[in-house]
Amino acid sequence: MTVRVLGLNCSPRDNSNSGILLEESFRRLHEKYPGEAETEIVALRDLHIEPCKACNVCGKTKDGKFIPCVRADEDDVQMVLDKMVAADGMCVATPVYFGLPTDLFARFIMRTRPLRHQDFKLANRVLGVMATAGRRSGGAETAIISTWLPFIRNGCLLVGNGDGTCQFGAYGWAGARGHIRSDEWGMEQGFQVAERVFTVAKVVQAGVRAADFKNPMVFSYSAGTRP
Ligand SMILES: Cc1cc2nc3c(=O)[nH]c(=O)nc-3n(C[C@H](O)[C@H](O)[C@H](O)COP(=O)(O)O)c2cc1C
Repeated sequence: MTVRVLGLNCSPRDNSNSGILLEESFRRLHEKYPGEAETEIVALRDLHIEPCKACNVCGKTKDGKFIPCVRADEDDVQMVLDKMVAADGMCVATPVYFGLPTDLFARFIMRTRPLRHQDFKLANRVLGVMATAGRRSGGAETAIISTWLPFIRNGCLLVGNGDGTCQFGAYGWAGARGHIRSDEWGMEQGFQVAERVFTVAKVVQAGVRAADFKNPMVFSYSAGTRP
């Protein structure tokens, strides 16, 4: 069984450092584990993404069925949500903007709320983050941690990189488009994140199959009893 890893490129610009980091990391993943991984990269900048309307409809049911997001037919978001649900693991690559992931990421991630409201469809997907900053101390760690938070709310499992020191993710150090290529350590960390996501997703995949839970989140979730 192959492990499916989805890359989300959250840069608003073309030929971005974030895109290069994802592409090169996935290239090396295929090189090291031939035939074992399926990867795809979605560039959010290429998509039409409307903001969440905060209508709260996605948390409701009608005739025993969840009501879909009211914006599901208005833009490209549903297509990405389907890819996230189909994935075993995800790598999010974002530029650091004021110590945070991009506004493009924020706009997109709020639209994952139906997945959370509707039986935690992203439960146990493995997530790693690659953050690229123009400055060495420009906020890569805060951006990584901020990126994690909505995924925790979605029931995902967070990993750092897979080298001996297990850092919080990949820290790219680059300003202009393409400069990430000369950041040897950032590129190495990007691969380590992709590899860590891949290996942990493989373990989770095997464990979930063995445990045979229909949805490992649902048994602990009881609507109406939450504070
Ligand atoms: C609005 C904006 C805010 C930024 N904020 C930061 C920052 O807080 N720290 C930093 O080191 N670099 C900052 N940068 C620089 C980018 O993180 C850097 O250019 C990065 O390489 C962009 O990645 P990309 O090529 O994937 O878009 C900022 C750039 C922009 C446009």
